[in-house]
Amino acid sequence: MSAYKPADLIETDIDAYLLQHQHKSLLRFITCGSVDDGKSTLIGRLLYDSKMIFEDQLAALEADSKKVGTQGGAIDFALLVDGLAAEREQGITIDVAYRFFATDSRKFIVADTPGHEQYTRNMVTGASTADAAVVLIDARKGVLTQTRRHSYLVNLLGIRNIVLAVNKMDLVGWDQSIFDAIVEEYSAFADQIGLATFTAIPMSALDGQNITEHSESAPWYDGPPLMRWLETISVEDDLQTRAFRMPVQWVNRPNLDFRGFSGQIAAGTVRPGDRVKVLPSGRESTVARIVVLPGDLDQAVAGQSVTITLADEVDVSRGDVLVGADDPSPVANQFETTIVWMDDEAMLPGRPYLMKIGAQTVTASITEPKYRVQVNTLEHIAAKRLELNEIGVCNISLDRAIPFEAYKDNRDLGGFILIDRLSNRTVGAGMLHFALRRADNIHWQATDIDKAARAAQKGQKGRVVWFTGLSGAGKSTIANLVEKRLHALGRHTYLLDGDNVRHGLNKDLGFTEEDRVENIRRVAEVSKLMVDAGLIVLTAFISPFRAERRMAREMLEDGEFVEVYVETPLAVAEARDVKGLYKKARAGQLKNFTGVDSPYEAPENAELTVDTTTLSPVEAAETIVAWLERK
Ligand code: ADX
Repeated sequence: MSAYKPADLIETDIDAYLLQHQHKSLLRFITCGSVDDGKSTLIGRLLYDSKMIFEDQLAALEADSKKVGTQGGAIDFALLVDGLAAEREQGITIDVAYRFFATDSRKFIVADTPGHEQYTRNMVTGASTADAAVVLIDARKGVLTQTRRHSYLVNLLGIRNIVLAVNKMDLVGWDQSIFDAIVEEYSAFADQIGLATFTAIPMSALDGQNITEHSESAPWYDGPPLMRWLETISVEDDLQTRAFRMPVQWVNRPNLDFRGFSGQIAAGTVRPGDRVKVLPSGRESTVARIVVLPGDLDQAVAGQSVTITLADEVDVSRGDVLVGADDPSPVANQFETTIVWMDDEAMLPGRPYLMKIGAQTVTASITEPKYRVQVNTLEHIAAKRLELNEIGVCNISLDRAIPFEAYKDNRDLGGFILIDRLSNRTVGAGMLHFALRRADNIHWQATDIDKAARAAQKGQKGRVVWFTGLSGAGKSTIANLVEKRLHALGRHTYLLDGDNVRHGLNKDLGFTEEDRVENIRRVAEVSKLMVDAGLIVLTAFISPFRAERRMAREMLEDGEFVEVYVETPLAVAEARDVKGLYKKARAGQLKNFTGVDSPYEAPENAELTVDTTTLSPVEAAETIVAWLERK
């Protein structure tokens, strides 16, 4: 650090301070480790040494240190940070605590996340934007399971600047052999996870040794103190020298004469006159202007937010990516990915989720994990789904092709989040590895006889009448009556019934949530084919989840999907118990039984609801047929 501290300049020349501040680079980093390793003390120390604590905070800190500190009246830096730890103990959820400090050469945002395994999702959130990570180790304890887990995650999220902060060296007498042994053990682990380089620093956050100043106690260490390392590591990796990429965040059209595409440049450099391609459409044009406030630029680079205008009237929408014309991004709709699940409700293969990647939002469905990674041991474990905080390698398939980069090459174009379509919660985060090429060799085959021709020949319009309701609600009975009636009217029909389909096509499926999702996915696909064949399809499945009924609806055209809720209170269905299954479920002989120990989500906007406590099956069927004939 240079002669004056930023705080000096704040007092003497505030304008000079602000100007200097504006031009400093920003480093975002994450601290990994637990309170026991001295994490709070370290962060408190960084804030204190950079003079980022106000006078009144300092006075309060000194007073608190005397009263409740653990350092015998001396300043207890952990008290600056530990308010959060207390909140955590009370069970208050804190996503990530971000703290800000600055030295005279750089600004810093430190993301502080809790260390325990149940906070994996918080750590992933904090690490996803970090350029560097400080992995804290207690010199007395060495490399722990937690150290490995944190390092694995940091590496997974593509952080390349890693410091191994071997703390509490004072408690082991600044013994070099202890430090060396820890570094050696960590190196072996780093090799195993493919972590290329790291810097190890022996320190004592409590005494402020090797934090801003070189430690007198470790003459054998000739590397930088932590603050120096943070101030000097390079964060602008080679992004600027790569091919140009800019996801379009919004189309800026203040008046008819101006049409610009705004976004942050994710990679490369752009100048007026450059040839660019718009992806995924592939149309080409030339950059006319690069507009920022206060004026135009003759060049812009990765990290800058700009508005670009093009020489030609080409179609560009939000979510498209502008790329260098001679080195465009690949475009694909199926990928291998790593996914970190962040929601209490498990990830179910086959269920559609929204995926946000770059500025694009698409619908995605995930296959069964190839394996799940046991983060503490790095073991690969077979899994059918992903639970909260679990990490798995899965294939993902999108409803359309998108331009992308592998996450390791570009976080902006290769990193994504997943959102539940019904609750709008962020349920997962992921990283693209590579595109699956298998879809490239399969093309849609046009046929001469189409849906309209088949329907016309039958003198009807194909559609699906989708019955949903509890087991024993009367779906099969009513669907059967509806089919009989339609048949008598000369309609061409087919009834897909849950129990029957489970004898053949779906006999490999049981009643776990993921199997039910797959059951409905297949039935929806079959129904779609039958509608294409011009048939009126009746489906009688519990189909307990809104998400999959919605998926079935979206596979078809408007008006082709008619949802019929066969409404029967659980007590009534259970009293009927035609197949004796409720009795078995209550006796614990049948697991995952809908309504007993597996959920049923009633429809919110079914086209038709038939209440079986007031209508007989024949009346219910007539209501439905009358509705269908009217349409
Ligand atoms: S769904 O949930 O996947 O849509 P589906 O309609 O195919 O279920 O199958 C439900 C039928 O399977 C029920 O009517 C019942 O006869 C039988 N069944 C056997 N075990 C269960 C269970 N655990 N939960 C619900 N139904 C079950």
